[in-house]
Amino acid sequence: MTQSLTIRRPDDWHLHLRDGAMLKAVLPETARHFGRAIVMPNLVPPVVTGDDAAAYRDRIMAALPEGMSFEPLMTLYLTEDTDPVDVRNAAESGLIKAVKLYPAGATTNSASGVTDFDKVRGVLETMAEIGLPLCVHGEVTDPDIDIFDREAVFIDRVLDPVRRASPGLRVVMEHITTAQAADYVRAGDETLGATITVQHLMLDRNAMLVGGMRPHYYCLPILKRRDHRDALVDLATSGFDRAFLGTDSAPHPTHKKEAECCAAGAFTAPIALSCIAEVFEAKGALDKYEAFVSLNGPKFYGLPVSEDTLTLTKGPAIDLPTKIAAGADTVTVFDPGQPLHWSVS
Ligand code: DOR
Ligand code: ZN
Repeated sequence: MTQSLTIRRPDDWHLHLRDGAMLKAVLPETARHFGRAIVMPNLVPPVVTGDDAAAYRDRIMAALPEGMSFEPLMTLYLTEDTDPVDVRNAAESGLIKAVKLYPAGATTNSASGVTDFDKVRGVLETMAEIGLPLCVHGEVTDPDIDIFDREAVFIDRVLDPVRRASPGLRVVMEHITTAQAADYVRAGDETLGATITVQHLMLDRNAMLVGGMRPHYYCLPILKRRDHRDALVDLATSGFDRAFLGTDSAPHPTHKKEAECCAAGAFTAPIALSCIAEVFEAKGALDKYEAFVSLNGPKFYGLPVSEDTLTLTKGPAIDLPTKIAAGADTVTVFDPGQPLHWSVS
């Protein structure tokens, strides 16, 4: 039986680091394990221009504790006013590695997102030309569409038409949550990839709703039924090389999670690798773990795999952190609801 796993150092292909005191608090939790991360641009105000991304990158590097190594992979927040020339310059200088599409109103801090896709046609054409990936939050915002159906409807109504209209555009379906999304990425060509989170591989909506509502499990896209989770686990553990870990670790102050109207997001960074190891072990797929957390992402993004290694060791159930301090607030760490046995050394 495998008791120890040494792998290339993992990366996180979808991460929220925030800013200020929150950034300072959460950055070490990621940098302790992950070498790089695609950093989401949904600050208030959002990271829209190359100049915004350069300034944010500097704030991230300034917040990194002495002795830790970490490379933030910056993104721009796509708006209807985004300038294709600025995108091209930011990509060609190496500053940004992707552009993020939020349908307006889909989730936390998405008010400046896109409503009219014709208005971003020029940016998407530039991105297709230079091979810059578009990271997509794949949910429609139509109030008539049930929240549990918003991802599947988005694929038909928005994603597929956008991809057909922009041949060659590289697209990452972010934090996929449904069997429909798993099928769509499998059926796609080499321009299409997908990230999957920790919580969507471990939990279904019963975990969030049965026996009382658990706000720390509330995130967007929302947790789905068990069969969707099973489809995601099958995809991640199959060795399929266009699916990779994007934790979507999304810290909010505890008081905003434990509130009458709770903020969306699960703070999984501190225990993400242990959680994923548990999922892969349960499927008898530990031999595919390194591909999912360390190899498939760089391959899709055209970046080198890490030269560093990291070892996970199996032992008795580990003590899980419950909260970390962030300025005057705390952030509650995701509780997987099951013991974890893999620790990172
Ligand atoms: O649950 C989520 N939280 N989903 C998102 O898409 C955004 C994120 C956040 O920024 O908190
Ligand atoms: Zn996110």
